[in-house]
Amino acid sequence: MLRVSELVNEDASLVSRRCWSDPGVYELEKRGVFGRSWLFLGHESQIRNPGDFVQAYMCETPVILARGEGGRVHASVNSCTHRGLPVCRADHGNTRRFVCPYHNWSYTVEGDLVTIPQESEVRNKPDKSRLGLKRVPRVESWRGLIFGCFDEAVEPLEQYLGDMRFYLDALLDRFPGGIEFMGAPHRWVLDANWKLPVENQLGDVNHGAFLHSAIIPREAQDTIEELGHSVVTRPGHGATFRLMPGDAPVDEVAWGLEGMGGIFGGAEVQDYLRDIQARARERVGDLRARMKGLTYGIYPNLSFLWSNTSFKVSHPRGPGKVEYWSWAVVPAEAPDPIKQILRTNYSSFFGPGGMLEQEDSEAWVQQFRGSNIDFADDRPYFYGLGLGEEGPHPELPGLVSVTANEFYARHFFARWRDDLQAVEGLS
Ligand code: FES
Ligand SMILES: [Fe+2]
Repeated sequence: MLRVSELVNEDASLVSRRCWSDPGVYELEKRGVFGRSWLFLGHESQIRNPGDFVQAYMCETPVILARGEGGRVHASVNSCTHRGLPVCRADHGNTRRFVCPYHNWSYTVEGDLVTIPQESEVRNKPDKSRLGLKRVPRVESWRGLIFGCFDEAVEPLEQYLGDMRFYLDALLDRFPGGIEFMGAPHRWVLDANWKLPVENQLGDVNHGAFLHSAIIPREAQDTIEELGHSVVTRPGHGATFRLMPGDAPVDEVAWGLEGMGGIFGGAEVQDYLRDIQARARERVGDLRARMKGLTYGIYPNLSFLWSNTSFKVSHPRGPGKVEYWSWAVVPAEAPDPIKQILRTNYSSFFGPGGMLEQEDSEAWVQQFRGSNIDFADDRPYFYGLGLGEEGPHPELPGLVSVTANEFYARHFFARWRDDLQAVEGLS
């Protein structure tokens, strides 16, 4: 394996193909990135009541996210402390106990070991208080978004998110009751590296009119080039959006109206979306009311697509496989028929068979193949578009530039390189 300093150059304008394909790099990522970062686990709307649980992953480690009897949220590794089987077999549900199928040890939803059926037959009783499920030591939530971290010393979640909160709130706070995750996530596996979807949805809106030329009209891309902003609030965290003129008609700014739900959903849906936009200024302020969001990314592997509201997590399954999880997100207080239409809008574009998702997925699979070929290591990928052209903005937090500037990816890879270097050489 190359040394990490050889994978990404100083200004991150050149990135080795091996970053996506080398098994040694992947092992460093597990410890340097996934072992030390806040990772998205789920949303509070998925586990409203004591005993509610959903499955999650932290890299390849299976995790149960559950609301305990006292109402607190807990995250435990879904692996029995007897022989390692998963103790929770359902994707989501409500329970009092997780019972391992092998020898029926049982655990509370908080992860404490309750019963060992075989112990009545032996004289020395095991100390069950030491045999609970492995806990994720840090679990915190912000605006209902729940994250966990295996590093006890990690900074608080709010600090980790930093100014990304300003941009997330542009959507989350737009709705009086916030948002909810609607139903179970779509999940599918691609022959690609986990960083490919992440990079795409951190800020790559430059491929829209090309890769998606059958769906995204040239005029839409013109608007992105004219009004689009790309922001990096901290390396690895970023957003892209259009900042619409203050006098733009409500139909041009309103979230959701340009999607299929808005176009085909009928008067009820359209009036609902207009009403949300009409009150946006009082809820999120003038600047954020004018934002028409595109893509968001939170380091390392959480993405959010604003226009077809979807949260996505890119779960690694080795250097050459990614299990993609994707949730439809809807305004919590919207009437049910409107939620259904918005969910259909999401799946038409960004579900596993979504029109845009299909094209993106194929691009990621092909890019992974390109990253795994021989005799081309002297041609690292070029990430230098717009190098050094980003800068502060009078109103928007973070570094800001045009969407064609690839600084969002350079900053991601600079942070990623530093994270790998921090564990390189440690056994
Ligand atoms: S492996 Fe879980 S009870 Fe034995
Ligand atoms: Fe795309």
